[in-house]
Amino acid sequence: MQSLIDAPIKQGTKVFVRCDIDVPIENNVIRETYRLDNLLPTLKFIIEKGGIPLIAGHIGKPEGVFKEELSTKHLIPYFNEKIGESRYEILENLRFDSREEQNDTNFAKELASKADIYVNESFATSHREHTSIVGITRYLPSYVGFRFQKEIETLNKVTTNPDKPLIVIIGGIKLESKLPVIDKFIQKADYVLLNSILSANWSKEIPQNLVLSDNSSVESKDIDTKTIEKFKQIINSAKTILWAGPLGMYEKEEYITGTKEIANETVKLTQEKGVFSVIGGGDTIAAVDKLGILNKFSFVSTGGGAMLQYLAEDTLPGIKALES
Ligand code: 3PG
Repeated sequence: MQSLIDAPIKQGTKVFVRCDIDVPIENNVIRETYRLDNLLPTLKFIIEKGGIPLIAGHIGKPEGVFKEELSTKHLIPYFNEKIGESRYEILENLRFDSREEQNDTNFAKELASKADIYVNESFATSHREHTSIVGITRYLPSYVGFRFQKEIETLNKVTTNPDKPLIVIIGGIKLESKLPVIDKFIQKADYVLLNSILSANWSKEIPQNLVLSDNSSVESKDIDTKTIEKFKQIINSAKTILWAGPLGMYEKEEYITGTKEIANETVKLTQEKGVFSVIGGGDTIAAVDKLGILNKFSFVSTGGGAMLQYLAEDTLPGIKALES
């Protein structure tokens, strides 16, 4: 992959930056800005070189339909404050156009025609074969952003020779991106722990190192006390902890207990025993931010599904597109 540092950006160069802007927005206000904060070095670098970043990305899953609450207009006050009103341009939520998720050739050409070069700064979406991640790279000289590079460098530490025992915790509700990678982690990790919903959807044999939630049920909104104790005991043996996806419906106070207990235990192990802890994903970030401990892990990846897929397969569609 070619790094942004080598991109030929001059005065007036238009740079299409595919950004991780999928942040939680409530009553038109951004609830948590971790993903946005991590875009700033790339955006500022482009501006310092005289270029104009064209911020492009998606928020949520609007499925090809305009939804006011998922509009990128809610991000404008943030970017105006951080990089200056006249220094950038921003496109509307790419997923308001159904062609974004279809890796559509005409949409790729349309997007490419808006800029001179392309930068992928959306690690968290690079497991998706979408137009602004894959298709567009055929029509513009393409580069990888600084944050994306950092994600790869740090996550490589976890795949190549992690300090063992390696314990992987997988939660969340995006079954389609989580279930396929569990098998890979069963091979790589000492233990794999699953939340109730994933446990309920696990239909294969249960190997010795796969630990399901005791209250596995699709209806269950949090892991139960017995599972919390079991998970705590297991992670206490870890040297590396990798965690993607909240363990319950953390948005509601009454279902955040499992996530809170395991997050606090992971932080304690990080601080007191030097465990290398990596957490990732939009919901996991929002959950630990709510708990006030976002900066207490060794590394917080912007990607959830993307992080797991990268660790399981050592590549992503977005990486392959930048390499070809
Ligand atoms: C994420 O939040 O993990 C990324 O923004 C990707 O979102 P998606 O699962 O809706 O593709």
